[in-house]
Amino acid sequence: MTKRFAAITGVGSYLPEHVMTNADLEKLVDTSDEWITTRSGIRERRIVAEGDTTSDLAARAAVLAMERAGVQADEVDLLIVGTTSPDYIMPSTAAMTQAKLGLACPAVDTMAACTSFIYGLQYAAAVIESGRADTVLLIGAEALTRLIDFTDRSTCVLFGDGAGAVILQASDEPGVEAVVLGADGTGAEQLIIPASGAAQPVTVGAVERHEHYVRMNGSEVFKFAVRVIPKATKQALAASGHSLDDLTLLIPHQANERIISTIEDRLGISHERVYCNLASTGNTSSASIPLALDDLYTSGRLSPGDLLALVGFGAGLTWGAGILRWTMNAPKGKG
Ligand code: ACO
Repeated sequence: MTKRFAAITGVGSYLPEHVMTNADLEKLVDTSDEWITTRSGIRERRIVAEGDTTSDLAARAAVLAMERAGVQADEVDLLIVGTTSPDYIMPSTAAMTQAKLGLACPAVDTMAACTSFIYGLQYAAAVIESGRADTVLLIGAEALTRLIDFTDRSTCVLFGDGAGAVILQASDEPGVEAVVLGADGTGAEQLIIPASGAAQPVTVGAVERHEHYVRMNGSEVFKFAVRVIPKATKQALAASGHSLDDLTLLIPHQANERIISTIEDRLGISHERVYCNLASTGNTSSASIPLALDDLYTSGRLSPGDLLALVGFGAGLTWGAGILRWTMNAPKGKG
């Protein structure tokens, strides 16, 4: 029997129109363009429009991915939305997105913070490979700036909003070649929204203490990221039978330029083979990897046969790496 693989047949993204620059942030908190740029590499980020939610961004990215894959609403067997900024705790953002897209399929969120898209990739590939689904819509979407404290300079300069989506379909050729995932819940306190669920419901007191916003121990998250990303990349490459030399491009979660350059050093991979677009997006959490894929696709920088490593890390603490054989042709006039 021929093996079934899951291959990406469509990709799309959506970025809100409103751009917030480092100069804009200088007016809100005691910071400087120089500090933000040298510590993170971020120059600007997009801010979700008033009235829009994560599921709106998700649906807009998904429409493009479905169009490019030539997939109709009734062909989608499963919708997975990775997010750190769900519309609600209940119902799921996937259910909200499903309604906006007019789908009739099951819909579920993966909530592994910035690793949510990679967790979703494992789920999507597994159901396709096992024959339980033929077509999966996988989205990473964030309106994360809604959960950021714009009086806290240590976090508010880092994050941005956006969404990226892919269609995965059954194929005789890879596709997703391997995914490795990890979690270490002993690091939960390092990156947390303290008052956001049943452990600590959002009360007036919690809001007064700004506990309904993201809290982060930046230096611990930094150390964690530069430890797990090279390791997960090597594990995923080994699981797929490839070496670092086989990789066309490493696409890491876009959190911080200094994290990315430390990873380059630790892996011994040249800067040209590592994708970085965070200067214009900031850290868009679950959306950063599919946003990067769409950016690369639309600018004609991906060709069929390219081998990509998608590597994420985030709160939980969680991490994950996927090895992906790119199968889509570049858009007409590109590539
Ligand atoms: N502007 C000016 N000064 C600042 C700012 C700011 N925006 N933020 C912090 N500072 C100050 C601090 O108060 C501190 O001052 P002090 O020395 O007088 O106390 C000084 O700058 C240094 O602060 P550090 O936190 O030590 O700065 P560091 O060099 O570690 O950089 C950063 C901070 C950018 C947050 C870094 O630690 C980092 O990138 N960590 C990883 C964060 C990350 O990737 N998070 C996303 C994870 S993904 C997810 O799941 C959401």
